[in-house]
Amino acid sequence: MAKTKPSVAIVFNHVGDDEYEKLKDVDPKSLGFKPEYDIHVATIMEEYEAIVDALKKEGFRPNLVNVNDDLTKLSTLLWSHRPDVIFNLLEYFKEDPKLEAMVAGLFDLYGVPFTGAPPFSLALCQRKGLTKQILHANGVRTPRFHLLMKPKLRNRHGLHYPLIVKPAREDASTGIEKTSVVYDQSQLHERIDYAFEHFSHPILVEEFIEGRELHVAILGNDPPEVLPILEYDFSMLPPEFPRIISYTAKWEPLKEEFHRVHTICPAKLPKRVEARVREQALAAYHLTNCRDYARVDMRLSNDDHVYVLEVNPNPDLTEGVSFMESAEKAGLSFSKTLKMIVDMALSRTAKPAVPPPAQ
Ligand SMILES: Nc1ncnc2c1ncn2[C@@H]1O[C@H](COP(=O)(O)OP(=O)(O)OP(=O)(O)O)[C@@H](O)[C@H]1O
Ligand SMILES: [Mg+2]
Repeated sequence: MAKTKPSVAIVFNHVGDDEYEKLKDVDPKSLGFKPEYDIHVATIMEEYEAIVDALKKEGFRPNLVNVNDDLTKLSTLLWSHRPDVIFNLLEYFKEDPKLEAMVAGLFDLYGVPFTGAPPFSLALCQRKGLTKQILHANGVRTPRFHLLMKPKLRNRHGLHYPLIVKPAREDASTGIEKTSVVYDQSQLHERIDYAFEHFSHPILVEEFIEGRELHVAILGNDPPEVLPILEYDFSMLPPEFPRIISYTAKWEPLKEEFHRVHTICPAKLPKRVEARVREQALAAYHLTNCRDYARVDMRLSNDDHVYVLEVNPNPDLTEGVSFMESAEKAGLSFSKTLKMIVDMALSRTAKPAVPPPAQ
């Protein structure tokens, strides 16, 4: 008898409108600059549907589950409609990114295997200051920094300008803007005040590493494999913008910055530097307890020192972008990479730690 195809619940949490729907009505000719990329980027649903199609192609029975901030819906899935495996794409619950780790904890308690990082890793990497301390204590270089609980920093802070001011517990480049990079004390204090007013606390002030930006995708566990290294090329960015992946450059197709930051994969690096990048990225992956797949964001200074900026467990899996661009360069198609991630989760046997609720 043919073996039944494993069922995969692709779990995500999306409430409200999809901003990218609106882009469908925008005429690229109305922008006032020449866009390099298509401004009609995939909507959230289109991205999830691409994952469904790919997993079907690989012989699974995928099913999209939008948790929609509804805990009952989640527990029904975990008890009454238990899938063989969960593809965990949930990043927050009730707008709170801290609850991402708690939801993964529920998957563990209910004994349903799930893709990606365990709860501890998700919680740790959301605390950029703590992660940096762990990296530093274990010989992984990360920019020198202060973690501010209050909008106060003594003038003799011991850090070398330029500095970057960023929220310590946000991701997806939230709070990373042109004025995040500061060159003197007055800009620094202005930005610290702004960051405390507009973003969640604490706030990181760290040395800005001029040089190249490298994103290192890592896939697997025994042992994890470093995929071809991806470089962000800022050379087409108008000179008034700092060489960073700002929120605008990452997410806003109607702005010029979005179209002026390009990727090069594999990055051209001297052998010795590449070996160091790979070694430091793997060390960061292990130290932060990542699992299955992750992306380590790095900077390479002009004097060839490798710095880890942050570790992203469960990074974005959009086809052809970032992690998936590296996977493609490694000869892994979108669907094959997703299959590998699902197979890793399926290989973990999980048992419920709590009895089912009375029916
Ligand atoms: N110390 C630094 N030196 C140079 N550039 C930096 C530094 N810190 C942050 N950046 C720039 O800001 C970008 C976003 O920073 P970071 O990766 O820490 O934030 P994030 O919000 O977690 O981003 P992501 O979108 O990758 O989740 C980096 O990709 C880099 O371009
Ligand atoms: Mg990053």
